[in-house]
Amino acid sequence: MNKSSQMEPVIIVLFGASGDLSARKVIPALYNLHLDGLLPQQYAIVGVARSSLTEETLRERFRQGVDQYSRRGPAKDQEWDAFAEHLHYIQSSYDEPTLYDRLTKLGDTGWETPPNIVFYLATPPNLFTIVIDQLGRFSELQGDIRYRIVIEKPFGHDLHSAKALNQRLLQVFEEKQIYRIDHYLGKETVQNILAFRFGNAMWEPIWNRNFIDHVQITVSEKIGIGRRGRYYDSAGALRDMIQNHLMQLLCLIAMEAPTEFTADQIRNKKVDVMHAIRAINKADVPAFAVRGQYGQGWMDGQPAQAYRCEKDVDINSNTETFAALKLFVDNWRWQGVPFYLRTGKCMPGRVSEISLQFRPVPHHPFAHLNTQVFQPNRLVLQIEPNEGVVLRTQAKEPGMGMKLKPVDMSYCYQDVFHQASPDAYETLLVDIMRNDPGLFMRADQVEAAWSVIDPILEVWSENTELNFPNYQAGQWGPPEAESLVAQDRRTWLLPISFEPKRGGCSVE
Ligand code: BG6
Repeated sequence: MNKSSQMEPVIIVLFGASGDLSARKVIPALYNLHLDGLLPQQYAIVGVARSSLTEETLRERFRQGVDQYSRRGPAKDQEWDAFAEHLHYIQSSYDEPTLYDRLTKLGDTGWETPPNIVFYLATPPNLFTIVIDQLGRFSELQGDIRYRIVIEKPFGHDLHSAKALNQRLLQVFEEKQIYRIDHYLGKETVQNILAFRFGNAMWEPIWNRNFIDHVQITVSEKIGIGRRGRYYDSAGALRDMIQNHLMQLLCLIAMEAPTEFTADQIRNKKVDVMHAIRAINKADVPAFAVRGQYGQGWMDGQPAQAYRCEKDVDINSNTETFAALKLFVDNWRWQGVPFYLRTGKCMPGRVSEISLQFRPVPHHPFAHLNTQVFQPNRLVLQIEPNEGVVLRTQAKEPGMGMKLKPVDMSYCYQDVFHQASPDAYETLLVDIMRNDPGLFMRADQVEAAWSVIDPILEVWSENTELNFPNYQAGQWGPPEAESLVAQDRRTWLLPISFEPKRGGCSVE
């Protein structure tokens, strides 16, 4: 029996079908699943949007998305045609009741097994409640796992709005039917964090405050905000990246071992971490959080414009395009170990890395050596783009006498796994169809993450940053980010794939 015949039929209703996310992420992922035989034999994708498009033009638009963004490159005609047969379009405004009368009847297909219906909200967030309210007219949806709803971030704008959205959703669906996407959780290397930590006995004894000096999580992006100015200018780096992606990475590093690999066990352990994060008082925000905004600069030898000159951005914008935080997890494992998080746009390169910096050796027996060459051990989880794991250790350099040199023990995905990783969206879509919510955000996780950053958001919105722009496009953020770690007598570690001698994995 092939994989697709084992899956229940599905109809995916894609709200926001004419938007960027559908063309860039959702459709290419579905197309790849189709090619891999990971969609059920019977399925349909029903796009919904306000744009006046024909089914043909929508298909054409989706094909362009696949050609441009699919990990497999441009589609082949025959394969595309087989997939395109499953694509349909309904043009409607989102508050039109008859639309929902029609959508909730989509299950009456006459297929031997009635399909599951997935409502996928790939729309701007201001439309979420309009759609949810309309679906709320159909009380039969609540609790029936054949109906699922997928919500993209941003999930709320702050704690208050996230709670309100959760409340509304839970009046219409039950938690088990709700899939809140954080696409980082679908990345192979992010899933590997659990395999690495809990599939190997050697890390546990040293994975704590006794051995680890601090943790750094860097997610730097080379791109600016492109055509997303309208959204981004009201969001900023803290909401766009830290509240979700970086906080999730932190949880995976800091969480306790689950006893079983089940969705709720893992989510419980992660939410425990969030609850243990030391609250930042508003008065302490400057000591724990730094914001930056890029100004004019240079990227790859080309002049790059300032954030405030980007399309749809306020010329006096107070929005941060860079954020760095210092967080503490107040529990037995992590007491006193800082977690430094940073993310930004228009930085020197695209890299996501987690570094666990171990404590230095307690005593140097090599007294005659210049201690400058000693680097405490460092474990680096290279999330992307050069996926792999690196453990930096000291070794004796061959030759007379005792000379030490840092060397890396590492593995790179491209060397050990001779197959392309699925895109995060592919993994997540399969999990939605299989009804496995483990890689999705539960209501309490989202709210706990907002609780951590809410005080920072408040202070930043109450105080205009007079120094903006405070880093040039093409730099690693503002000098204040250096001070954040320097005040603890530490420095930001250069991501390992940026080191001149090219540490770790490198695909270039
Ligand atoms: C999204 C953010 O969630 O993640 C974007 O809204 C960001 O601003 C993107 O560019 C980064 O994702 P990835 O997978 O490219 O690291």
